[in-house]
Amino acid sequence: MDVFVIEGGRRLAGTIRVNGSKNAALPLMAAALLTDEPLILSDVPNLSDIRNMTRLLGELGVQSDSQKSEHGQTITHQVTDPTQSHARYEIVRTMRASISTLGPLLAKRGSARVSLPGGCAIGQRPVDLHLRGLEALGATITLDGGDIEAVAPTGTGGRLIGAPIFLGGPFGSTVLGTANIMSAATLALGTTIIESAACEPEIVDLANMLISMGAKITGAGSPRIIIEGVEELGGTNHRVMADRIEAGTYMCAAAITGSDLTLENCPLDAMMSAVDTFGHMGIHVDPIGSGNDPMRRSCVISKSGPIKPVQITTQPHPGFPTDLQAQFMALLCLSNGNSVITEKIFPERFLHVAELSRMGAQIHRQGATAVVTGVKELTGAPVMASDLRASAGLVIAALAANGTTIINRVYHIDRGYEHLEDKLAGVGASIRRANAEKFADSAMTL
Ligand code: EPZ
Repeated sequence: MDVFVIEGGRRLAGTIRVNGSKNAALPLMAAALLTDEPLILSDVPNLSDIRNMTRLLGELGVQSDSQKSEHGQTITHQVTDPTQSHARYEIVRTMRASISTLGPLLAKRGSARVSLPGGCAIGQRPVDLHLRGLEALGATITLDGGDIEAVAPTGTGGRLIGAPIFLGGPFGSTVLGTANIMSAATLALGTTIIESAACEPEIVDLANMLISMGAKITGAGSPRIIIEGVEELGGTNHRVMADRIEAGTYMCAAAITGSDLTLENCPLDAMMSAVDTFGHMGIHVDPIGSGNDPMRRSCVISKSGPIKPVQITTQPHPGFPTDLQAQFMALLCLSNGNSVITEKIFPERFLHVAELSRMGAQIHRQGATAVVTGVKELTGAPVMASDLRASAGLVIAALAANGTTIINRVYHIDRGYEHLEDKLAGVGASIRRANAEKFADSAMTL
């Protein structure tokens, strides 16, 4: 296993380009199952989650050819064997987004067997809303040995039946649940209404691609999406939207090191909550250049004066994204006051608190709320990555800490950030990847 070795205190300068979005790319890739024609995706980030989805699609009879491109990669997916419809536990357990193959498989092939994804470090991660939605479309769902068995209704030629579906749950909407039901409904008989749909930009990106494949979808990005089923979908060529969470992560890195950093390919139009929160903290995100696509802007991040404390409550989009909670908490550890962070999406998503405290942060967690008391400085220490975004928070804290931080288990980071250490080193950070064994006997490991 690899570690990151980070010497804190460096100012950053220069430009970082934001990649295509992992959370958009995964359901876009799964949508390849909906067509017999080639699906070409460009600006796909080169991440372990993407490689796992490619491997899963391979087991589901989809051939994937990847070409490295100037930014990320272009992947051409083509169904070659529609008889393979079992998403096995061995792959699904490594990546819960595998669940987004369920809807497309069922809609296109009339049946599907997908392993129930387990929980993960941030929570139990149920899929009850996905299953309820597919049942509303006429599917018969049974659980067998940890697998979801889904079968389309009889007498319809294997097609699902459009229906009105309320997809709201105790935590609001479900992003991948909306992706699953919207994708499945594109081939259903009749019209589907998804009420309390997720409004995330990644859902809009998926809808735009499905429409370019021949789907009839209106309302994506709003809580009510209407899908009129069609007989079949064609192929298309789609560029993955930019990653708003990666962009927000690098913005936090710039802010905590007091750097003026330029970011390219920022989906600023999808980041208004985060940019607004930065503003309250005294951190400026200023668009630059003449680019007119608000989803692919260049911008400069700068800070005027100390980081001010704020209150953050994570919400479904357009509220503050839970995937930036850990990164902002790291930043607020050095604010000049008390901040309150409430996690409304994943109430257990605080594994980074103990690790930040090892670096001298003062954080008091009470259930789904954490009070962060700003301190003058953080101190480098060996810490343990636990999940993708918590790990990103630790990197951000380490960039500003005095001394050396060793982050163990950086494979978590490789799931969602392409060459994070190279991008940060490229703008002046002292960060390098090393082999954990090299630190086995050093006092710096756990
Ligand atoms: C997506 O996960 C993202 N992953 C997550 O990003 C993100 O944190 C999450 O949306 C929320 O924004 C991908 O897009 C691949 P949900 P998803 O279904 O769709 C509950 C990252 O770091 N729920 O919107 O799985 C659930 O427990 C990852 O990139 C049910 O109760 O999340 C949670 O509390 C982490 N029943 C809330 O809803 C269900 O059937 C939101 O979950 C489904 C979800």
